[in-house]
Amino acid sequence: MSDRASLIVKNVDLSFGGLHVLRDVSLDFQPGEITGLIGPNGAGKTSFFNCLTGHYRPSRGTVSYDGEVLNAVPTVGRADRGIVRTFQHAALSSELTLLENVIVGLNTARRSGWIDALLPIPRRFGDRDEAENRARRALEFVGLGDHAALLAANAAPGVMRLVELARAGVGDPRVVLLDEPAAGLNSTETAALADTIGKLRASGRIIIVVEHDMDLIMGICDRIHVLNFGAVVTSGTPAEIRCDPRVAEIYLGTGDD
Ligand SMILES: Nc1ncnc2c1ncn2[C@@H]1O[C@H](COP(=O)(O)OP(=O)(O)OP(=O)(O)O)[C@@H](O)[C@H]1O
Ligand SMILES: [Mg+2]
Repeated sequence: MSDRASLIVKNVDLSFGGLHVLRDVSLDFQPGEITGLIGPNGAGKTSFFNCLTGHYRPSRGTVSYDGEVLNAVPTVGRADRGIVRTFQHAALSSELTLLENVIVGLNTARRSGWIDALLPIPRRFGDRDEAENRARRALEFVGLGDHAALLAANAAPGVMRLVELARAGVGDPRVVLLDEPAAGLNSTETAALADTIGKLRASGRIIIVVEHDMDLIMGICDRIHVLNFGAVVTSGTPAEIRCDPRVAEIYLGTGDD
């Protein structure tokens, strides 16, 4: 896998019955960049992520990563290639500790890579101590190193969001999809989250963030794409998007909700 691997989406269409959810979406994403994906409720943002992870199959078009077309690759195979996500609705197990929740991420993490080709696959993450060490490092990375033993049931929403980030990052992913990571967070928690997302970028990953919090999006993204009714309406830098009249129009209620 080359370090400059890009994720390329070409002419993707997605329909459910008569409902046209994505319309001819063509976008590409580069390593080391944080891309924002914004748009009103129902615009198709989560569906777009689902097409990248293999949870949904586009009715037309291709998704490729590092030169390989992924359309026929199932969700697990995409995780193996380093494509991971967080979910719009927090999906941690409340009866597990923060550390255990992060360890869960290793079970879905990619198992392939040139170095692993030299090792039997189960060895890398098969060892409990190794898994625990990795999970601890991931928790430290998001600033929660001292809270490994906390039960998720007792963690504040801001902490849960950071744990999800740690779980997404623990397997050293190449592509990280974050679906509304700041939902339910206060401004202090959102600032901590923004810092952590910025640190993830530093290691040359592709990061795509779906978010309604415009301050967060404008603050961390290199580039932003705006979706409305399943189509890309406009793309640009945060400064360009901020003063694009089409964006104001969409958010001022020409939409359906
Ligand atoms: N599995 C599905 N079956 C039928 N319709 C679906 C399915 N998944 C998504 N949709 C529809 O696709 C459209 C886009 O939904 P999606 O969840 O992608 O929007 P979104 O941009 O993520 O919205 P939000 O900001 O509210 O999360 C909606 O009309 C939704 O009802
Ligand atoms: Mg969504």
